[in-house]
Amino acid sequence: MKAEAIKSELVDILVTKEQMEARLAEIAAEIDRDYADKDLLLVGVLKGAIMVMADLSRAITLPISMDWMAVSSYGAGTKSSGVVRILKDLDTDLQGRHVLIVEDIIDTGLTLAWLKRNLEARGAASVKIMTALRKPDAAKVEVEVAYVGFDIPNDFVIGYGLDYAEKYRNLDVVGVLSPSVYADK
Ligand code: XMP
Ligand code: MG
Repeated sequence: MKAEAIKSELVDILVTKEQMEARLAEIAAEIDRDYADKDLLLVGVLKGAIMVMADLSRAITLPISMDWMAVSSYGAGTKSSGVVRILKDLDTDLQGRHVLIVEDIIDTGLTLAWLKRNLEARGAASVKIMTALRKPDAAKVEVEVAYVGFDIPNDFVIGYGLDYAEKYRNLDVVGVLSPSVYADK
């Protein structure tokens, strides 16, 4: 879906399709270098990371593996609590593996801080993080991120895998949703 289709629901476009593709190509080249002599496992975090996983993995030239996890933060509302529940676990044994977590967005950092510790505890040789988007102003915990697509302001964003009420994941840009869309909900 193109941004024009929901013009009245967007107040801004932060990252275009072309900007995202160009940035992911740069990151893929770094990953090619950093993991040239390693057997890399990409771990995508469902559902938001589907788009970045699809685009990043195809820009990497190494024969990597992919697996998926689904997690959800305990606690009411839309705010991360830092207590995470695994909804779908990996199929892969991480013992001795080099893992790169692929995320759509880091907001408070609480989810990823938990996930990184969880995967490390399974005996992985290394666990690093790649995120398409990061909101530095929202950080509650320090999480070391190896690869960042774009740092963005502390606004609620949709598109490129990110949803509002499960919609807009198929929008091909990263946009700021107009508050009028959720004000009356
Ligand atoms: P934390 O706060 O633990 O949470 O870093 C990260 C998760 O929160 C969701 N999230 C968003 N989802 N637009 C969204 O559609 C946003 O602006 C946004 N900010 C955070 C997302 O699921 C992410 O994995
Ligand atoms: Mg979401």
